[in-house]
Amino acid sequence: MEKQIVVSGIRSTGYLHLGNYFGAIQNYIKMQEEYNCYFFVADYHSLTTHPDPKELRPSVFRVLSENIASGLDPEKVALYAQSDVPEIPELYLMLNMLAYKGELEKVPTFKDKVRQHPDNVNAGLLTYPVLMAADILIHRAVKVPVGKDQEQHLEMARNFAQRFNSRYGEFFPEPQVFRFSDETVKIMSLDGNGKMSKSENINATIFLSDDDDTIRKKIMKAKTDSGPTEHNSVMPDYIQNLFVLMNAVSAPGITDTYRSAFNGCNIRYGDMKKQLAEDMVAFVGPIREKAAELYKDEDTLRKILKDGAEKARASSSVTIREARKLMGINY
Ligand code: TYM
Repeated sequence: MEKQIVVSGIRSTGYLHLGNYFGAIQNYIKMQEEYNCYFFVADYHSLTTHPDPKELRPSVFRVLSENIASGLDPEKVALYAQSDVPEIPELYLMLNMLAYKGELEKVPTFKDKVRQHPDNVNAGLLTYPVLMAADILIHRAVKVPVGKDQEQHLEMARNFAQRFNSRYGEFFPEPQVFRFSDETVKIMSLDGNGKMSKSENINATIFLSDDDDTIRKKIMKAKTDSGPTEHNSVMPDYIQNLFVLMNAVSAPGITDTYRSAFNGCNIRYGDMKKQLAEDMVAFVGPIREKAAELYKDEDTLRKILKDGAEKARASSSVTIREARKLMGINY
């Protein structure tokens, strides 16, 4: 049976953190065995915020190193930079003709950016979901492993695929968010404010590059409270987040012990955080060290990008040829 096609990307802005790991990378690693996977560094997407050109290469190489150190195997998947595949911007242009200003302006991530950076509301930001749809549709992917924050973008990718199909003929499958568990993952910031993110409150974000003491300090400072006063209380989201992290990195059974303590109103958050900190140190340490080693080997990283781009272009060029034909661009 043909393997199903999977696409996902990570922006090359800053260091990767636990949200990226548990929301995305962990699933990439599980999927690489059974699916035909295309994973890429979304360097074009990162240009919306005008990064310093000197920062781009280090950022792209870091994202690559951290993905490989986490267990992604470039022999098994196509691992590439978005900008090495010119068919993506070509499809982006085509899809832009099917994307409407009104719907793009309504996207919550766009509205957030407008609020945060009113002086930089560029067209790339507005059409961010169109480029993302092009990333996915260029391989005619059906499954997209992403965290909760990207669900709305996926819905738009499906809309653009449908619109193309109804205008030019059935061609693109409708890509779906992929997850192994029932819910898509959202790792919250350790201060309890919104999602863990590359740019906001870095003291409440655990990066895959953080050293042991930094990890310990950040976890010990994570938001907690004086604990529940009634048995089986509803867990506040910032406490739930600590349980999610503990469940991900601690030995089986440990989470249950603390969950029972929470339900029985005798949880000691200080102890829980100490346990979580040590388990997190043991989890992140090997990834950090492997990534640092890979990062130094630029020749290997360049070779990985080159091979990845070749695989990605083989698939993309077929899609573009067909899309052009369907649209009548074949003279
Ligand atoms: P980016 O770079 O912000 O994040 C990469 C992946 O990490 C997930 N993620 C999280 N998951 C759970 N909790 C969090 N706190 C958290 N923070 C980040 C994201 O959901 C994502 O899966 N637009 C995308 C990149 C992209 C893309 C694509 C993804 C471009 N084209 C095509 C899939 C398909 C982004 O900015 O992700």
